[in-house]
Amino acid sequence: MSIALVILAAGKGTRMNSDLPKVLHEIAGAPMLVHAMKAGATLEPERQVIVAGHGFDAVDAAAKAYDPEAVVVLQEEQKGTGHAVMVTRDALDGFTGDVLVLYGDTPFIQPETLERMVAARKDHAVVVLGFQADPSEKYGRLVMQGETLETIVEFADATNEVRDITFCNSGVMLIRGEVLFDLLDATTNQNASGEYYLTDLVEIAREKGLSSTAISCDATETMGVNSRVHLAEAEAAFQERARTNLMVDGVTLIDPSSVYLSHDTIIGRDTVIEPNVFFGPDVTVESGTRIRAFSHLEGAHVSRGGTVGPYARLRPGAELAEDVHIGNFVEIKNAIIDEGAKVNHLSYIGDASVGEKSNIGAGTITCNYDGVMKHKTTIGKRAFIGSNTMLVAPVTIGDEAMTGSGSVITKDVEEGALALARAPQVSKPGMARKLFEMLKLKKKNLSKGLN
Ligand code: UD1
Ligand code: CA
Repeated sequence: MSIALVILAAGKGTRMNSDLPKVLHEIAGAPMLVHAMKAGATLEPERQVIVAGHGFDAVDAAAKAYDPEAVVVLQEEQKGTGHAVMVTRDALDGFTGDVLVLYGDTPFIQPETLERMVAARKDHAVVVLGFQADPSEKYGRLVMQGETLETIVEFADATNEVRDITFCNSGVMLIRGEVLFDLLDATTNQNASGEYYLTDLVEIAREKGLSSTAISCDATETMGVNSRVHLAEAEAAFQERARTNLMVDGVTLIDPSSVYLSHDTIIGRDTVIEPNVFFGPDVTVESGTRIRAFSHLEGAHVSRGGTVGPYARLRPGAELAEDVHIGNFVEIKNAIIDEGAKVNHLSYIGDASVGEKSNIGAGTITCNYDGVMKHKTTIGKRAFIGSNTMLVAPVTIGDEAMTGSGSVITKDVEEGALALARAPQVSKPGMARKLFEMLKLKKKNLSKGLN
């Protein structure tokens, strides 16, 4: 059965106390909305509709940045979860499969859970995802009769007896698309909140002879985010799970709790991550590498056998081939570092390519920016860049060429050549001793108040 995904994301999220729409607050470097879209994407939906209201333009842009095919519809006034689904009517026109409703602020639903819902749909028109909550929580209550879900009662509308039920509604619901809008049309806002409840579908379906069921998942999956405190808790939960998954997959994290991962971090087997390493979005680290302490990586690719850090920074477009060594206080941006090359100390390599087995001496800087435009530095194979070389781009250093320490290189260096571009040294015999004597005398006179 084909699936259409509907993600509800129109709410204001007042308790976030933010100018940013709630669903655009990030967990592990991606907006919560994208986490929900990723979860839904595992079912390969035929259509994807996001219901936005507050901060519509920003939500629309974020959804399309992740998936250009996403359809974002406006829910001008937030009249409840049922009303939110009603506004997808045109976007779902002609669709006859199953409709999966997710919330944009509930980012951790697991693909396996969605698969179980799809399986349960065979015998029921509506499948609701439930979880066990403390009786003090104000979630909608799932009233079961054996396998059958009889009704969902919102906390505000519930009797004390119903409030004692601990099986609660997560909000995730899978509905037979053919009946969805007929059922929605039968909902009213005659309830404690004066809203159109999506949850009323269950009872309306039952009255029409259509059965519903609920399946259960762990409460960690249905965790919603309503405040910055929840956001931090959700981040912690994400990190904990992602670190554990990496370790299960054969990556050593010496101090897991100090390593921060992104939603899309990929790390190969037998790689060792030392303490205090931060992975921003879009990083791939291949097998058998070592990322040393206090390194910061984003938009970077580290190939097999490489070492990075301690205290290294790999920025977007850092592409390291096999067995590359990047050492302490080195920044690499938009640069290809070829096999076996070394940039071990205190360097900035940006908008550059470095050939295989080249050695970049301590303090080398690619001067890539002239204040208006960026320019490229090209370094050949097995070149040796002397310490503290300034490479003023655009500039090319040939294969097996060398630059003298402290050189300011403004012209191309041909292959095999040595380029020296620094002031020649001058030596003056005895001059240092004379200078010392003069200075000491001056200090003495000063302390006596003379000049
Ligand atoms: C809803 C459920 C409740 C469930 C709880 C789980 C209903 C009536 N109640 O309650 O059973 O236990 O979620 O968290 O469905 N939204 C819109 N437009 C609207 C209203 C809501 O897009 O008009 C979106 C919100 O942005 C949010 C989600 O739908 O992402 C849920 O809305 P919320 O107001 O938080 O629902 P609850 O009252 O908490
Ligand atoms: Ca809520």
